[in-house]
Amino acid sequence: MAAMGEFERHEPIFGFTGPVARGVAACILIAAITAALVSLPEQSAEWLRSREMIRKLYLLPILLCAAWFGARGAAASTVVATLVCVGVPGSFWPADVPTRVERVGEIAVLWLVGALAASFFEQQKKYFQDIEAANDNTLLALASSLDVREHNTGVHSQRVADYTLRLAKELGITCREELDVTWRGALLHDVGKIGIPDGVLLKPGPLTEEEWKVMRTHPEVGDRILRKIEFLRAPAEIVLAHHERYDGSGYPRGISGDSILLGARMFAVIDVYDALTTDRSYHTARSHAEALQSLRKGAGTLFDPAIVSAFGKIPFEELRGIARNNQTSLVLAVEPVPSLQGAPAVSPQ
Ligand SMILES: [Fe+2]
Repeated sequence: MAAMGEFERHEPIFGFTGPVARGVAACILIAAITAALVSLPEQSAEWLRSREMIRKLYLLPILLCAAWFGARGAAASTVVATLVCVGVPGSFWPADVPTRVERVGEIAVLWLVGALAASFFEQQKKYFQDIEAANDNTLLALASSLDVREHNTGVHSQRVADYTLRLAKELGITCREELDVTWRGALLHDVGKIGIPDGVLLKPGPLTEEEWKVMRTHPEVGDRILRKIEFLRAPAEIVLAHHERYDGSGYPRGISGDSILLGARMFAVIDVYDALTTDRSYHTARSHAEALQSLRKGAGTLFDPAIVSAFGKIPFEELRGIARNNQTSLVLAVEPVPSLQGAPAVSPQ
């Protein structure tokens, strides 16, 4: 998935998300254990045993750091625990040799657990990444095969998915899960066309009213297909709503405004931009500037105006880069195609 590597998965911790929250949580835990250790007196064997028990609690932040930050996190937290155990913050280093040996054994256990946990979580992370990549590659193959049937090229769906991902970034979305859902929903937007007969889908001329009725079933067909798969249920919502329009004039439910999922509102803008800037059976590619002009005309009626505005801020060179990455060689910046001046706006089926 293009450009997704810069985003990490974030789970909320104490109301915060991301690596900062995790780092703060780990530091608080280590500080609390150290404070408890320092506060205990050393006068009796009972207290010394209590200290021993509390030192074992360092295993908890070490395991958490290994899970959250991998080998580096495990090493950093183990170093802190080791410094405390050897007496850096106080007079913790034992005087007698047998207790010293015991203490060295405790420190060795901390390092052993840290190393094993880091290795386990790194392998687990790689395993999940491999599964996720395999899943996305399967989705790409499916979308590509559908594209070949309808567009004679296998890149339309991936291109609009990558445009939508860039638009999501422009709107300030950084949550990896949300970006995954957006990208997959955009990629699979027309998966329901698998149920549309060739006579309707590939018909060269205008569709009859009956044929339009058949064509307009594809969002619901796509939703039904994807909803059966656990990790595609959220993208299925985008597929179902990808032909809804901001003023309620879309289909299949005729919903409007913010009741249309954000991912679907973003995709609606992208789908029309892509249709305008690429060669189709019914027109030649228009320039980026012309496409933006058409989108702005539809802001507030067909499209969410805030999304059109955000899309207009994306540098043309970035959009051209995405098009090139998806084997679409030409997206014009401003030059109009003279023969198409004044041609009516198009809307994808
Ligand atoms: Fe569609």
